[in-house]
Amino acid sequence: MRMVDLISKKKQGEALTNPEIDFIVTGFVDGSVPDYQMAAFLMTVYFKGMSAEETTALTLAMARSGERMDLSAIEGIKADKHSTGGVGDKTTLIVAPIVAACGVKVAKMSGRGLGFTGGTIDKLESVKGFRTDLSTREFIETVNQIGICVTGGTKDLAPADKKIYALRDVIGAVDNIPLIASSIMSKKLASGADCIVLDVKTGSGAFMKSVEESILLSEMMVNIGHLAGKKVSALVTDMDIPLGNSVGNQLEIMEAVHTLQGNGEKRLTQLCLTLAATMLMLAGAGDKTACEAKAADALYSGKAFEKLCELVTAQGGDAAVIRDAALFTPASVVYELKAEQSGYIGRMDTEKIGIASMLLGAGRETKDSVIDFSAGIKIMKKTGDYVKQGEALAILYTSDQGLLQQASEKYTESVTFTTEKPPETPLIYAFVEKDHIIKY
Ligand code: URA
Repeated sequence: MRMVDLISKKKQGEALTNPEIDFIVTGFVDGSVPDYQMAAFLMTVYFKGMSAEETTALTLAMARSGERMDLSAIEGIKADKHSTGGVGDKTTLIVAPIVAACGVKVAKMSGRGLGFTGGTIDKLESVKGFRTDLSTREFIETVNQIGICVTGGTKDLAPADKKIYALRDVIGAVDNIPLIASSIMSKKLASGADCIVLDVKTGSGAFMKSVEESILLSEMMVNIGHLAGKKVSALVTDMDIPLGNSVGNQLEIMEAVHTLQGNGEKRLTQLCLTLAATMLMLAGAGDKTACEAKAADALYSGKAFEKLCELVTAQGGDAAVIRDAALFTPASVVYELKAEQSGYIGRMDTEKIGIASMLLGAGRETKDSVIDFSAGIKIMKKTGDYVKQGEALAILYTSDQGLLQQASEKYTESVTFTTEKPPETPLIYAFVEKDHIIKY
């Protein structure tokens, strides 16, 4: 087989066979397929697409490219969730403790942020001492002891995805359904959980900008999961407005704590309860009504908050900052960004808000950038709110005064004013199960 022939075959719009897809993935991982040929192949997939069968073959080849976690030493069903990436998305920090507090084991491998999206591992590392590099043995022991563990993926987990994602990122081939589906599902299949809830983000702060595309991505990932013998369902949820009121690592930990103490923003709390109830249902903890009640009880009784404290302590973190956010080291520069005009906020370009946060130091421009955990944004006014000229739109946090101007300009650009109050956008657009879609 020759890589050039396979690129040409895809260029003609023909479907590749399983051995051909295996050849490409194994060749790229062992170095016999060079970056330039893989880049050409990925761009051809970007424009010509891949069938469901090809995407499944690609996913399985990527999942087989490295270590596959054996979680059989953990008793009972293991549940996981995954978000396709967004701005201010701190749901894992809230949902995972809720589910674990309800008695369902959460064995979760999370990622880091890149570009305008954040990552759970960076957020957790803003808690002093918190370890995200646990060995497989430590991961399994922690889940067995306290019912929950959130760690970073090991370097051997789906190495094909790491190499392919890095290339997609620099050739502009991230926002593509077969490539996103295979990237996410290869890691999920390799990380060993029995049931997985996918939070597929849609809108200006997501890779998929339209609900239709997000539903297609959801269907593809749900099907791949089922073919691999996992229980998988997906929720298509809004990312046209940042989730919650904060963006940035330490700020998002504080907001997650606030939410677990029962004082969270309405949409963030509602989404977390829905995701948690869906994970509980998949894990067989009861029907929809029972699981919704269990999730709400875990949140409002404080049990889920205590579970987060246990998680932080078990992974070496300082739980004192979880109990008292005043103990976090604050950003040295705090700037109130004021509205230049009065009116309703008609629209927020959420991707731009993610970029503004990154420009303040909270995210990574390249994978080697160093994160400033104290940096980020507190959003004071959101879509649908009325703002008077001179009122605070947002508070920007950074350690470097020199970063303020560019970030302020980007944030200001993200907000569109209108004279009429815009209609409220839905929080959840669709629920996708195997052979069944509910659109809201
Ligand atoms: N998250 C992933 O892990 N992969 C993608 O391709 C996009 C989002």
